[in-house]
Amino acid sequence: MEQHKGSARDQFVSKLGFIFAAAGSAVGLGNIWRFPYLAGRHGGGAFVLFYLICIIVIGFGLMLAEFAVGRHTQLSSVDAFKKLDRRFTFVGAMGVLAAFVIMGYYPVVGGWSVAYIFKTIMGQLSTDAAVMEQTFGSLVGGIASPIFWTVVYLLANVVIVIKGISDGIEKASKVMMPLLFILLIILVVRSLTLPGAMEGLKYLFVPDFSKLTGDVLLAALGQAFFSLSLGMGCMITYASYLSKKENLVQSAIIVPTMDTCVALLAGVVIIPATVAFGFDLGQGPGLVFVTVPAILATMGPVLGRIFGLTFFLLLSVAALTSSLSLMEVVVSYLIDNRGWDRQKAVLGSSTAMFIICIAASLSMGIWSGFTIGGMNIFDLLDWFANNVLLPLGGIFITLYVGWFWGVDKVRDEITNNGEVRFALFNVWIFLCRFVIPLIIAIVLLSGIGII
Ligand code: TRP
Repeated sequence: MEQHKGSARDQFVSKLGFIFAAAGSAVGLGNIWRFPYLAGRHGGGAFVLFYLICIIVIGFGLMLAEFAVGRHTQLSSVDAFKKLDRRFTFVGAMGVLAAFVIMGYYPVVGGWSVAYIFKTIMGQLSTDAAVMEQTFGSLVGGIASPIFWTVVYLLANVVIVIKGISDGIEKASKVMMPLLFILLIILVVRSLTLPGAMEGLKYLFVPDFSKLTGDVLLAALGQAFFSLSLGMGCMITYASYLSKKENLVQSAIIVPTMDTCVALLAGVVIIPATVAFGFDLGQGPGLVFVTVPAILATMGPVLGRIFGLTFFLLLSVAALTSSLSLMEVVVSYLIDNRGWDRQKAVLGSSTAMFIICIAASLSMGIWSGFTIGGMNIFDLLDWFANNVLLPLGGIFITLYVGWFWGVDKVRDEITNNGEVRFALFNVWIFLCRFVIPLIIAIVLLSGIGII
């Protein structure tokens, strides 16, 4: 979809088209790589429970708010706020910054995923923790090879965004996403039938509230934002292409539900198997890359390779449909607000992203000694975007919709001028006015250590 200023905007021709594009942005590394490792690191059940609460109370509500702003203005996020209320333009700008910061490390992980397509074909599969950790460690701790894979991944983004052929990718992902779903279910069966897996399932779902500290709450909140692509105007931009006939409420229920199902499935694949193999649950970003190959190793050399190739290929494509949406936020800002042409915007922004990615990648290896508050560069970028910028964005977007936009205008937009029923409208406005901003503010302040 390209934006044609002045002329009629392209629109999603079918309802499913929009749902798949939004779900394509939401479902990505956040679900399969980040959610399981955070659940493993932050004590399992209690983290997962608070994450689900955030999805239900904040996720649905904020997504609906972003959809409403986007469809109403038919503009991408910076311009949308500029048009609605100049004082809120900074919210759009903060979103561009968040997209840029996330793109400073997301392609590094995308690169690992592409690298693992080849590692699994070559049969680098083992149930031995030492072997799998060595395989992962030598990839991410290296200099040239992780940067090479980052380049491969980033170039795929560049080509697609320059040519404006995200449509093709979205069509492909309509086939790939159901496939990913099926593959995850197969892996769930394999994982849960490993001896000792039930202990892991308990770890994932039985809450131990003694583990709920401020930073764990903030991690769960940040993960909800990251996984749903919320808090930075990505969904505003997507909804700007939506026709006035679509039912926003329905879409704001379907997309988070799909996203959460994928995350939970990934958790049920990875955590029980990690426990069954006796691997370290708290190992961090390497978890999926260590545990999934080990699960594959138990399937035999042929099946293991076939499923391995498919899994990492689908993971790479899921990551791609997400990073495209991030890059598009930065690129469309440069085009619409800075007057750059598309090619210059893509090449300029991706070069800057690449430089940050190099630092993020090296911080897993030779630069790992450089830390601030115990975090290396990679972790810092991730923490600043997801645990600071996105929650702040969420506060301002819901406050705007709840207090400044005007309840009647909001109601007209959400109900398509009274054509769609939304019985919970008043509850939702109450959430936007008070509950969502307040929860985010409290969790943010306690997570940062201020209260
Ligand atoms: N949600 C994506 C994932 O889970 C990442 C992503 C895409 C994102 N667009 C975003 C995160 C916008 C925050 C904001 O991998």
